[in-house]
Amino acid sequence: MKSNGLVSISDYSKDDILHILDVAADFEKNPGRRLLEGKLVATLFFEPSTRTRLSFETAVNRLGGRVIGFSDAATSSSSKGETLKDTIKMVSNYVDLIVMRHPIEGAARYASEISSVPVINAGDGANQHPTQTMLDLYSIKKTQGTLENLTISMVGDLKYGRTVHSLLMAMQYFNPTYYFVSPPELKIPARYKFFCRDHGIPYTELEKIEDVLPISDILYMTRVQQERFTDPVEYEKVRNTYTLKLDMLDGTKDNLKILHPLPRITEISQDVDTSPKAYYFEQARNGVFARQAVICSILGLV
Ligand code: CP
Repeated sequence: MKSNGLVSISDYSKDDILHILDVAADFEKNPGRRLLEGKLVATLFFEPSTRTRLSFETAVNRLGGRVIGFSDAATSSSSKGETLKDTIKMVSNYVDLIVMRHPIEGAARYASEISSVPVINAGDGANQHPTQTMLDLYSIKKTQGTLENLTISMVGDLKYGRTVHSLLMAMQYFNPTYYFVSPPELKIPARYKFFCRDHGIPYTELEKIEDVLPISDILYMTRVQQERFTDPVEYEKVRNTYTLKLDMLDGTKDNLKILHPLPRITEISQDVDTSPKAYYFEQARNGVFARQAVICSILGLV
């Protein structure tokens, strides 16, 4: 499989997704295959990141490739006014693949049109985070034994949470039932509700997390995305809407797993970490295997 990159999860068919998950499982069993010997990957992060950047860089290093790039746009010439277009034209002269995070929705698509090498979207504003989705799918399949017929509750900032948007779209192939739990200010945008309707996916919008706890297979918690708010007063109103605590897991299904793209702030209490239902740190670890699989498939190596 070789492609021009991964900008939106909709770039992948069901077969593509299942192929990547199989390859990721191979990498988990055997993480040290040197498939990227002689290859150079750029990681261009115009927004902060811990997991995405470091797991991409771990993935490349473990595969024998090398990484250049920046983790802070202030250290790049974009701080002097260089355009994204010129930055991408330049960097695509140097490397075999570009991984980019950017605050503007659509920036990754634009970069992919400029670039002479494939571009992977590592998050564009509130839009998409497709490689997070691949590790989320990998984590769901690993913990549930299947992707089919699951009840998935998405909780928190469903308006700005790009990981929610990508995951919601990717699960279209696997007959999910969705519960969207958010305060009114952070409801899932209309276009994703239309997407569910168009694809025959049942969903219910709720405000209380307690209503979904006994029925969920996957509880997908999210952080309120402070950086997307233009008015700090609006952020203060919703920042602490949900806090999942350990005792709230009484009466939940045996197979329930709690996922979170991380970082978490107050939406999952630290005591939940002791529960076998808490899966978010393993989920982040799975990011290395999923990203190894995405990179190698885009470069036509698997
Ligand atoms: N999940 C995720 O995107 O985390 P980072 O912002 O730390 O990369």
